[in-house]
Amino acid sequence: MCGIIGVVGSDETLATLLQGLQRLEYRGYDSAGIALVRAGHTWRARTAAGTESVAALRVECEAAPQNCRSGIGHTRWATHGAPEAENAHPHLDCSGHVAIIHNGIIENHAELREELRARGHLFTSVTDTEVVAHLVEELRARGLELLDAVRQALLRVRGAFAIAVMDASEPDVIVAARRISPLVVGTAPGVCYLASDVPAILDRATAFYAVNDDEIVRLGPEGFRAVDLEGAPVRLRQLQIDWDLETAEKGGYDDFMSKEIAEQPDAVRATLLDRRRRDGTIAFDELRISDQELREVRRVVLVACGTSLHAAQVAKYAIERWARLSVDVDIASEYRYRDPVVEIGTLVIGVSQSGETIDTIQATREAQRRGARVVAISNIVDSSLAREADAVIYTRAGLEVSVASTKAFVAQVAALELLALRLAQLRETLTPEEIESLLEGLHDVSGHIATVLSRRGDVDAVAAQLLDAHDYFFIGRHVGFPTALEGALKLKEITYLHAEGYAAGELKHGPLALIEPGVIVVAVTTDVNMHEKILSNVAEVKARGATVIAVATDDDDQIDAVADFVVRVPATDPMFTPMIDIVPLQLLAYSLARGLGRNVDRPRNLAKTVTVE
Ligand code: AGP
Repeated sequence: MCGIIGVVGSDETLATLLQGLQRLEYRGYDSAGIALVRAGHTWRARTAAGTESVAALRVECEAAPQNCRSGIGHTRWATHGAPEAENAHPHLDCSGHVAIIHNGIIENHAELREELRARGHLFTSVTDTEVVAHLVEELRARGLELLDAVRQALLRVRGAFAIAVMDASEPDVIVAARRISPLVVGTAPGVCYLASDVPAILDRATAFYAVNDDEIVRLGPEGFRAVDLEGAPVRLRQLQIDWDLETAEKGGYDDFMSKEIAEQPDAVRATLLDRRRRDGTIAFDELRISDQELREVRRVVLVACGTSLHAAQVAKYAIERWARLSVDVDIASEYRYRDPVVEIGTLVIGVSQSGETIDTIQATREAQRRGARVVAISNIVDSSLAREADAVIYTRAGLEVSVASTKAFVAQVAALELLALRLAQLRETLTPEEIESLLEGLHDVSGHIATVLSRRGDVDAVAAQLLDAHDYFFIGRHVGFPTALEGALKLKEITYLHAEGYAAGELKHGPLALIEPGVIVVAVTTDVNMHEKILSNVAEVKARGATVIAVATDDDDQIDAVADFVVRVPATDPMFTPMIDIVPLQLLAYSLARGLGRNVDRPRNLAKTVTVE
């Protein structure tokens, strides 16, 4: 998605903007731009060179005016208008003095554009964003200060935005605002910053603040002040950011994806840390609903996208098994439009690494509108999803930069299984001893993941023999099924090869027709309760010529006779297996993608956070 950054009061404005845009590249983009402002003059440069746009912009900025102490920058992921330079941000008003950058979608841009054109405004792009520059221009012409002009302009706007606006006639001011799209503010002595997320300003700012929906912030060298859409003062919540710069860098790994795969034991351990109150109850991070309301839950619906959806599918098994509650899992982008039935006692769980995926946010909002209470599982503190939920369990996976989500998945499963145990605790569907035993097993998972990581050579050896393969099925039963779905997604999104995840019992109902020599079937066989069934599925595909890779437990003495390749993992309670079994599948996808020369951190066509529907 688009990324925005701004700085005011700095002696290193241009360097700050270019470094920040580079840090925002992982959000996915196809063009970039910068505006520098000093008294009476706004200078702009824009490029549309795909994922090389920031590098191209650096060259363009060699012609930038010196000694500008404020500016804004933008990486654009096209939603309205082709990814061409004239659609790249910043956009200017007719005077060329007002500059704006924007992440989000202005839903009523067409009517605003017609209205402004009728009053003589000339547009130079087809973007939705440009309409705001002209609205601000009109309001400034009436003598409003920039803060009020932006506030009044936003009263006309419907849709999602994180914007930053500058005007050459107020050179030491940036006005920023948000609705749905993420925005943080940072400060250091004599300097203020804004960005779509923390890494962009991580080593510049010394304090960070969350901006909430419909809050507008005026930033200057002296600091910032914030108001709501009506102009009433608001206080921004300070964020506790303990990331050092290394966290946002690769830490010695070739890429973020391999770093983040390696961080999975820590991600699970951190997510499970300090989750018990003195009375033994399992604690949420934020709880704005009572235990009694949780006790009265009669039905659970999980909504999520992509990898988070697969974590949600694992949670279905855990909540039904431990808390004896009926659970549905919905694709977030489908939930909102199917006129869902939300009865009293419905708990909706939104699962999102970024906490900014618009499909998931809109689904949980729809559920809340219909009377459901919402729990958020988010990896980003104060994310939109977290702020709007009635309760939050944060995954503590740390910054996940690679577009292919890995450590977030295992952390999400851990957090969701904690939630399932909390519900079981409240409903007394498990004894304290059973809960204690399951919690101990959950805490052992990080060690099992570390064991699998130590065996990554086994996976690399298998991958090296498959570089010519181009057709994969991933199969599993019970919680092995969402694990298979996630393994297929990993392979698809970073190797660009075709892969399908399937419930192993479904193959005979059609997909078996596709099985022939050359097709690779990856079978998740670690669930002791489903072992006999999954082995017969492996025999089914072997008999039709498939090459089988099995993920099997250390103590499985039958699998070698039926699979071509076996990757071993420690045995554990079936409900915990997705967090362990997914690791060889991540490593397989990674190893194949590297062998194929793919960009594993920034796969084509994908973005890390999808903030448009
Ligand atoms: C995962 O590898 C993908 N990059 C993608 O499916 C992602 O999981 C999905 O977009 C949801 O993102 P979220 O968890 O931030 O909501």
